Amino acid sequence: MASTRKIMHVVGARPNFMKTAPIMRAMQGRFEQVLVHTGQHYDDNMSQVFFEDLGLPQPDIYLGVGSASHAVQTARIMIALEEIMLAQRPDLVMVVGDVNSTLAAALVCSKLLIPVAHVEAGLRSFDREMPEEINRLVVDQVADLLLTPSRDGDAQLLKEGIPAERVQFVGNVMIDSLAHALERARESSTLADLGLEPGTFAVLTLHRPSNVDDPETLCGILAALTDIQQQLPIIFPIHPRTRGRIEAFGLAPMLEAAPNLRLTEPLGYIDFLRLYSSARLVLTDSGGLQEETTYLGIPCLTLRFNTERPVTVSEGTNQLVGNDPEAIRKAAFDVLEGRGKQGGIPEYWDGRTSERIAAACAAFFARQEAGA
Ligand code: UD1
Repeated sequence: MASTRKIMHVVGARPNFMKTAPIMRAMQGRFEQVLVHTGQHYDDNMSQVFFEDLGLPQPDIYLGVGSASHAVQTARIMIALEEIMLAQRPDLVMVVGDVNSTLAAALVCSKLLIPVAHVEAGLRSFDREMPEEINRLVVDQVADLLLTPSRDGDAQLLKEGIPAERVQFVGNVMIDSLAHALERARESSTLADLGLEPGTFAVLTLHRPSNVDDPETLCGILAALTDIQQQLPIIFPIHPRTRGRIEAFGLAPMLEAAPNLRLTEPLGYIDFLRLYSSARLVLTDSGGLQEETTYLGIPCLTLRFNTERPVTVSEGTNQLVGNDPEAIRKAAFDVLEGRGKQGGIPEYWDGRTSERIAAACAAFFARQEAGA
């Protein structure tokens, strides 16, 4: 019986929370739900504030694994999750995105023969130096239900030999959270608190190892930002990893010499939405923000050479500029001179993806019952 099926959701890091929240809401009353938080992200402003902003229930189980190397972090999550899976025996485990917690959960479940559904399946940057790319490849190979945000994902999965009956195009679930929160974001005092008028500033996020772990690359990016902030203030909610690297590489004086590059602590979901939805321009190396700016029609310069979200470039406002300082400067000044990229909203980015995910899970159980 569909109503007695138990679905376990595993979240761990900031980009997971806005995907799982609408799914849990759509599944309410339809399935028994258990929420596990691995604790990959643990600072209040990287985790707890998202639970509050997104209306996510407090986790039923918290693993508290914290930060460590990839192997140690993934292994710790796997060891803890195996015990939980054996005790809880969910009928399906739902994982989202491409972080280490997603990988760990998928591996544990596949060995225990517990079905795994992967939301945001089929995305590929084709860059295996990115830890997330390895996570995406492995999770999609072992998942039983692959739910894709755009049709390029379906095509890619078929190319990789995944049987078509496991794959379903459902749309982009992050847009469900965005659409749901837009009105509340208008009430956020973030702009007033920072003394900003809509359309008069840029927003920056930066945390990819490829941008922040090499001193020369990071220094070049900061040099480009120093030039841009002379024309347009840049608000920079800084990831803890990036803050650590700037200090370790002795680059803090560059920030002091750029007064309009304004650092803030990482912001909660609602306050950050208020901020970037009012920006003239977004500069980022995040995955999600490429999509969020496409949905809102805001020019986005992605400081990467590739993206696993190509529809944001082919259909949306996203432009890949890499990390060469001159390319970043030029692209930013193009936007300021009115040559920002225009775009449209991709198919099924309509705020109803979580309903399609709930329906896909119900259909999965029905197929299982029918012995298909
Ligand atoms: C992780 C994800 C990445 C995602 C990002 C969003 C993986 C492989 N990477 O990267 O895909 O885009 O989250 O933020 O899963 N730290 C804190 N407090 C926290 C969390 C982290 O201070 O609450 C610091 C620690 O120094 C830690 C570092 O940030 O070592 C990196 O954290 P980690 O979770 O390993 O990777 P992210 O860079 O956050």
